[in-house]
Parts: sequence; C-alpha cells; structure tokens
Amino acid sequence: MAKSIQDKPTIAERLQTASTQTVDNLQGSQFWNSVFRPGSVFRKGYTDSPRNRSYVIMNSVLYHLHPVKVKRHAVKVSYTLCLGGLSFFIFILLTVTGIFLMFFYRPTAAAAWDDIQSLQTAVTFGLLVRNMHRWAAHLMVLSVFLHMARVFYHGAYKAPREFNWVIGVILLKLTLLLSFTGYLLPWDQLALWAVTVGTNMMGFTPVLGDQVKFVLLGGAVIGTDTLLRWYVLHVLMLPFVIVIFMAIHFWRVRKDGGISGPL
Ligand code: HEM
Repeated sequence: MAKSIQDKPTIAERLQTASTQTVDNLQGSQFWNSVFRPGSVFRKGYTDSPRNRSYVIMNSVLYHLHPVKVKRHAVKVSYTLCLGGLSFFIFILLTVTGIFLMFFYRPTAAAAWDDIQSLQTAVTFGLLVRNMHRWAAHLMVLSVFLHMARVFYHGAYKAPREFNWVIGVILLKLTLLLSFTGYLLPWDQLALWAVTVGTNMMGFTPVLGDQVKFVLLGGAVIGTDTLLRWYVLHVLMLPFVIVIFMAIHFWRVRKDGGISGPL
C-alpha cells in the first residue's frame, strides 16, 4: 500500500534529525574528545553520577582548585567572610590595572613624574585606572590583615595548619613590600621622603646597616637607580614571588582538610 502523505517527514523534522546527527557526530569525534575530558557534561553519554560529578571537578582547569567534596559548613560565607578569596581577587585586579599603567610609565627620575601627570590628564581612563590601582593596594593590605585576624579568631592556625600560617605571614610581608615599593614610583615629594625615611631606618640594621641601605638605594643617595630598582621589585620580582607563595598557600588549604578549619 502507498504511504500516506502524513508518513513523510516534514522539513522541520528532517532539519531536526540532521542537526541531532551532526551534534552526535561532533560529540563522537576525536577533536571533541580531545577538548572535553572524561566526565565532562559535554561528552557523549554523560550521566549525572557521583563519579562523573567528581570527574568534572578533577578534570577542569577552572574547577580543580576546589576540592571534589566540601563540608557543608565550609561554604558558609559568614565563616571565612571570603577574606582570603577577596585578597586574591584584589591581587588579580592590581595585576590587571598595573599592566595598564605600565604602558604609560617610564621608571627614570626625568620621566616618572611627568608620565604620571600625563597618565591622569591625557590618557583615556588613566585617572580611573590609577585610582583603582591605588585604592586596591590599600584594600589588599586591609583584607589580608582581616583574613589573618579571621584565621586567628577561629584558631585555624592550629595543627595541621601551622605551616600554612607561616606561609600566610610571608604573604603578609610580601603584600606590605609590594605596597611600599609602589609608593616610590610616582616620584613625588611624598614618595621621595617616605623612601628616604624607610631606607634610613633600614640603615640601622645591626652589622650590615650600610650595605642594606646601599642595596636598597642602588647607590649612596636616592636617585634614578633607586627608582629602577624599586620598579623592578614592584612589577616583576615581588609579584613573581607572591604568586609562588599563593600557590603553596592554596595547595596547603586543600591538603590540610579544606577551608574553614578546625571543626
Ligand atoms: C596575599 C595574601 C593571602 C591570600 C591571597 C590568602 C588566601 C587564602 C584563601 C583563599 C584561603 C581559603 C579560605 C579563606 O579563609 O578565605 C586561605 C586560608 C588560610 N589562610 Fe590565607 N591568604 C593570604 C594571607 C594569609 C595570612 C597573612 C595568613 C596568616 C598569617 C593566612 C593564613 C591562612 C590559613 C591558616 C588558612 C587556612 C584557614 C582555614 O582552613 O580555615 N593567610 N587563605
């Protein structure tokens, strides 16, 4: 018997079948499987099982900082106040705004002050980004300090987290050093005298005072060599070192039983 007209697939049905087949072929391809690792929700035949949920965390570059399992109390914002995370976020903001500022700044005694002035007056968003960088620097000192106070209040420095407390103290020192080295870069009176006072104080270090002062100033008196030295410390060396210590810090948070200890 001849098929009735209703048995023929409509154009919409044919299009739907074709698109389902294309998606099916794509999901089964080597290319797709090389991008999405086992357990990914985008893989063919994904099922919502505990094993696949663990895979999503373990195999994703975005999620692997988080543990596969989190204690219920640990995700309460009111426990950590997210102060560690906030410190990290501010650090990222400082890096992004800092890179912007680097495009318009030359670290020499002759150019630095003028560059900051033209950054504020002639560069689009220059004043805004400079202020974001400055305020974020103040905020980071505050949030790191409050994070430390939170950790102390909860006794989260106790075993097995003693080592991470020590890493934290190093992070606090590095945060303060980043703040202080950045202070000289505008090359204004405030910066010059703050650094003069700071390096004079460090000149009183027992035994090696004169040498410490010489190394910090890049000479006998504050000048363009000091500026270059502090610039390299501020934009390269200290950020590099702090990132390494942050990585160790986050890794230890995970290994010591996750955030929000001890409970
Ligand atoms: C750049 C500075 C820092 C960053 C970015 C940072 C980041 C973090 C993050 C994201 C956490 C996990 C959850 C949280 O409490 O928010 C954490 C936990 C911790 N931090 Fe920091 N931190 C910094 C400085 C410090 C300082 C100064 C100390 C102490 C001297 C410290 C000691 C600890 C300890 C002991 C933990 C584990 C706390 C727990 O398990 O409850 N950190 N940190």
